[in-house]
Amino acid sequence: MQRITVLGSGVMGHGIAQVSATAGYDIVLRDIEQRFLDRAMEKIKWSLDKMVSKKRISEEEAGAILGRIRPVVDLKDAVRDADMIIEVVPEIMDLKKKVYAELDEVVDNPDVIFASNTSTLPITEISSVTSRPDKFVGIHFFNPPQLMKLVEVIPGDRTSPAVVDATQNYVKSVGKEAVLCRRDVPGFIVNRLVIPLVHEACYIMDRSGAAMEEVDSAIKFRLGFPMGIFELADFTGMDVIHKATTEMHMRDKKVIRPHPRIGELFDAGKLGQKSGEGFYKYSDDKYERVALSEEMADRCDPVSLVANILNNAAWLITNGASDEAEIERAARLGLGLKKPLFETARNVGIDTIVGELETLSSEYGEFYSPDPLLVDMQ
Ligand SMILES: NC(=O)c1ccc[n+]([C@@H]2O[C@H](COP(=O)([O-])OP(=O)(O)OC[C@H]3O[C@@H](n4cnc5c(N)ncnc54)[C@H](O)[C@@H]3O)[C@@H](O)[C@H]2O)c1
Repeated sequence: MQRITVLGSGVMGHGIAQVSATAGYDIVLRDIEQRFLDRAMEKIKWSLDKMVSKKRISEEEAGAILGRIRPVVDLKDAVRDADMIIEVVPEIMDLKKKVYAELDEVVDNPDVIFASNTSTLPITEISSVTSRPDKFVGIHFFNPPQLMKLVEVIPGDRTSPAVVDATQNYVKSVGKEAVLCRRDVPGFIVNRLVIPLVHEACYIMDRSGAAMEEVDSAIKFRLGFPMGIFELADFTGMDVIHKATTEMHMRDKKVIRPHPRIGELFDAGKLGQKSGEGFYKYSDDKYERVALSEEMADRCDPVSLVANILNNAAWLITNGASDEAEIERAARLGLGLKKPLFETARNVGIDTIVGELETLSSEYGEFYSPDPLLVDMQ
């Protein structure tokens, strides 16, 4: 594999193009208008210049990397010599299907791998519009691709093992770590752990009266997250969280119990850091940390937070999508978790967690019923 076409040059696409060109691949970066490509090439140049100023690469290397990325608008031209096409267009099912139907028409070589960077849409369903579902795979980079080590690789129901291997090899070749999500389940691994936790944290405030900073402090100091969960939601953007929620909940009622607050914030345009307000208020659009502390963490019992994330982790294992070691790797690399999840859970006590889930289940319904794996682990 030498030639890669990246379709879409936005937040993720330009980063994926950059890391791939840095690893020596010849890249065609495609978007629907030249001005989007100009903006993307500027961003890549800015990022490479920063690496030069930090002496991570030489000026010559930066020039060579940029020289390996060819911006193109014409789709036929863009895919002509590709060995792999990474699709990074907006997270809209109809748009993705339209793009793949078009691709199916213009790509002659039957061996080209179609890889989608979708965060939440089902791989099998997108692949169904192509004549090559066996050559179709999910490749979920994290934002920003230049810095984040994790890439989830997700086979659809008909993806061939050779394509999964080739994709994992590509991920390693660009200096990233591939975690295989063995089944095409809503949220894959990382989003299945983290998106429901944002909602649960809202329910915990309703139930216990804990303040937002207290819940966030418990997430940071008891669960080992690099920041609070509300802080993380504001950083990620309420548009992304809301979209992921809708997609995941539509397909699986067991994964997430939507709390109305997320939809309300989204509707009010309170998208987080980037709009100046989300769960928290920010003085400007620069990245700002919320003040959290061990003392505040002591005022929030973390058991139902741990119970929520662990129940989803257990679901992934029970349903053959992952195993404990891979979940820990994904959580460390994708969420920056400093403490293994299952270690936190064992410290809290599996009995306590199962008891908490049973109590919640009797009060709020089936959603909370403990996964059979947790029941067995007691
Ligand atoms: N932003 C994130 O944090 C993040 C993280 C992981 C995965 N993702 C996923 O990556 C994908 C892209 O997200 P993004 O945030 O980069 O979006 P974005 O809106 O920043 O970029 C999408 C780009 O695709 C272009 N585009 C639209 N139609 C196209 C077409 N037919 N051919 C080529 N380009 C086309 C748009 O002009 C735009 O430049 C989505 O599936 C998203 O779920 C996003």
